[in-house]
Amino acid sequence: MSSPGPVGQAVLGIETSCDETAAAVVGPGPAGPGAPGGVIRSSVVSSQIELHAPYGGVVPELAGRAHIERFTQVVDEALTRAGAPGGNGIGAVAATTGPGLVGALLVGLSGAKALAMSWDVPFVGVNHLEAHLFAPLLEAPGLGWPAVVLLVSGGHTLLLEMSGPGHYRLLGQTIDDAAGEAYDKVARYLGLGYPGGPAIDRIATQGDPAAFAFPRALLDNGFDFSFSGLKTAVVRTVERHPGASSADVAASFQEALVDVLVAKTARAVAATAARGVCLAGGVAANSALRRRTAALADELGVPAYLPSPAMCTDNAAMVAAAGAWRLAHDGPSPMALGADPGLFLPLTT
Ligand code: KG4
Ligand code: ZN
Repeated sequence: MSSPGPVGQAVLGIETSCDETAAAVVGPGPAGPGAPGGVIRSSVVSSQIELHAPYGGVVPELAGRAHIERFTQVVDEALTRAGAPGGNGIGAVAATTGPGLVGALLVGLSGAKALAMSWDVPFVGVNHLEAHLFAPLLEAPGLGWPAVVLLVSGGHTLLLEMSGPGHYRLLGQTIDDAAGEAYDKVARYLGLGYPGGPAIDRIATQGDPAAFAFPRALLDNGFDFSFSGLKTAVVRTVERHPGASSADVAASFQEALVDVLVAKTARAVAATAARGVCLAGGVAANSALRRRTAALADELGVPAYLPSPAMCTDNAAMVAAAGAWRLAHDGPSPMALGADPGLFLPLTT
């Protein structure tokens, strides 16, 4: 293990794992260098939604090309807004190494290494899943441990017991589709466009969540999730009721999915005697999930940590925060570090 880097200075974070080109500068928080959290000095996200929307999903080659086109402008903007033009005052560069699309990851990773080399500062590779777990910490550095974290994104649905940064115990995960993937597939089927999560979130407010009784898979069974049956049930229902209102279908789908997420989170809090409940990942921006998680936490008498919606979806501030912590604890990453599209969270037992 190499020696810890100079975390007293701000970290430039870079995120290009999927369809957002993002850069952010995060300085040490009030708890000092190396402590989890930090102060967001800038966070710039260039979304590729318009580029991929006509295809109904992310086209990997287009994503990689767009990252290359946008990279320097997004980084420049993040540095300028942070008062660190040209990298002045940046003590390290952090970039997502995985999981994600390999051609997209390589853009941010190569760019980050080039900047670190030219500024002569450490480079640190960041696990995208761990970065999501740092989003609640950025906004609530005093979070109490252990906490139950529900990490729900386009690629993952993980229920974790987190006993501190770097200490994650997996309680359960999806055995088929991720929650965000179910949102995106159902939205596409209903013709609501891409990305599906925000579209369903919006239209569901006009629908009746009790209009259709969709299945709640594995509801009373452990901590794992399954959402592919729910997606199929939506398709079958619309086939049987071609005149059904999309708002009713969307609201009933969301109700079923959120019911399961919240029930399992409640069970996890009870099983771990957690001192807090956190949401993380893109689906954590969902208004129904946020409302229900806040109500659950109230009921259980523990605080809920809900990152602001912009910190739930992909951004580089969470990458910079995770990078700063990893740098302080493990030291810089080797310059030969590659992209790892299938990277999983480092787990403790
Ligand atoms: O974390 P994220 O930005 O990227 C990944 O790491 O996957 O998550 C993206 C996912 C997409 O499936 C998107 O539809 C979903 O998060 N999402 C939402 C909402 N906003 C984004 N799902 C439900 N409600 C939302 N408001
Ligand atoms: Zn993500």
